[in-house]
Amino acid sequence: MVSLRDLLAVAQIRPADGTGEELPRGLEGVVVAETSVGDVRGLEGFYHYRQYSAVDLAARRSFEDVWHLLFDGELPDRTESARFVREVAGMRALPPGVADLLPALASMGGPLDALRTGISMLGAELGWQPSIDIDDAELRTQALRLCSVVPTLLAAIFRLRNGQDPVPPRPDLSHAANYLWMLSGQEAPAAHVRAIEQYLVLTIDHGFNASTFAARVIASTGADLAAAIGGAVGALSGPLHGGAPSRALDMLDSIGTPDRADQWIRDAVKRGDRIMGFGHRVYKMDDPRSLFLRGVARPLGGSLPDFAEQVERTIVDVLAELKPGRQLYTNVEFFAGVVMDTCGISREMFTPTFASGRTVGWSTHVMEQVRENRLIRPAARYVGPAAPQPVPAT
Ligand code: ACO
Repeated sequence: MVSLRDLLAVAQIRPADGTGEELPRGLEGVVVAETSVGDVRGLEGFYHYRQYSAVDLAARRSFEDVWHLLFDGELPDRTESARFVREVAGMRALPPGVADLLPALASMGGPLDALRTGISMLGAELGWQPSIDIDDAELRTQALRLCSVVPTLLAAIFRLRNGQDPVPPRPDLSHAANYLWMLSGQEAPAAHVRAIEQYLVLTIDHGFNASTFAARVIASTGADLAAAIGGAVGALSGPLHGGAPSRALDMLDSIGTPDRADQWIRDAVKRGDRIMGFGHRVYKMDDPRSLFLRGVARPLGGSLPDFAEQVERTIVDVLAELKPGRQLYTNVEFFAGVVMDTCGISREMFTPTFASGRTVGWSTHVMEQVRENRLIRPAARYVGPAAPQPVPAT
């Protein structure tokens, strides 16, 4: 149970200069919009998409069904689901103009950089107009196309970076199965497909996180869909947001054996390092995505899930001792890395895989923003030297 004292300690609200008013650092707790996409109730360890628990959806429905729920506001029945699956599976191919430029793009920077640029290229190639100039139906069609193409783009980038030819998408496979197929050129075991599908459902949306907010800010200017989603990918690339799962796995490698975990974490915290995959802005208790993914990882087998659980226990204990009152537990990224690694996804593709599913959430928010738009333009309190001052002569 989280005490009031703990909550006040983690809220970190500090007085602003002079005025006596308080500014929440990092906009913590500030409500900036109304949404019907979903919500995160951090103190309850609960989040939902539309009116359904996201964890229940991950347990019971496919990625495509949840995608339909977000885009169209309701879960599909069997007939609607089959029609939606066919529709999006038919949109997976890369336009030739983008495919031709990929080899040059793939060799520059990391896969997330290539994705960001690839999304810009896609928007330009398909002639996407500013959202202010198109209607809801056209924006939805663009968003369907984008969410279908992003996994193809990512898999091609990955293979080209590793000296392999891209594998064309297969319309007969589900979204998750096709993604794994395009990455490796082999059909993945059903258990791996379902594990990755559940991961993608769990991370499709999550309140007004930094990348979603970035997408909505850009959409509010009336810019096109590619601009909004490219901006979101940029926000996601930072380790404090989406760049943590590979770093969490690097940490497990570096720890090596469970008996070394205690000292390793103490040294890292003493150096002032952040322990990747731990802590969350909204959850001050277990992240429900982490709890679910721990359960997904276990039956996949191998030694990594077990090792990760042992290290997790040590880290939680050491952080509770060294950072009292901060309520630091695993976030989604810790077990995401474990699940993806066990399912054969390469470390450099962890955050890009997160981005591939989150594109559905970002696009849903862009559509909502555009429908109910007013330019997002907040204010800042100026705290520099008093102005105006005389400008010194040169
Ligand atoms: N390791 C060590 N200490 C931590 C960690 C951590 N992972 N997270 C927070 N703390 C400590 C801070 O050092 C700070 O302590 P202090 O008051 O002694 O200085 C206190 O907890 C509060 O930290 P803030 O940065 O204010 O907390 P915030 O709400 O901004 O943190 C965040 C959220 C950025 C996710 C943070 O917990 C973190 O850096 N975690 C590691 C990176 C990570 O796992 N990111 C993925 C997040 S999930 C996602 O975006 C999909």
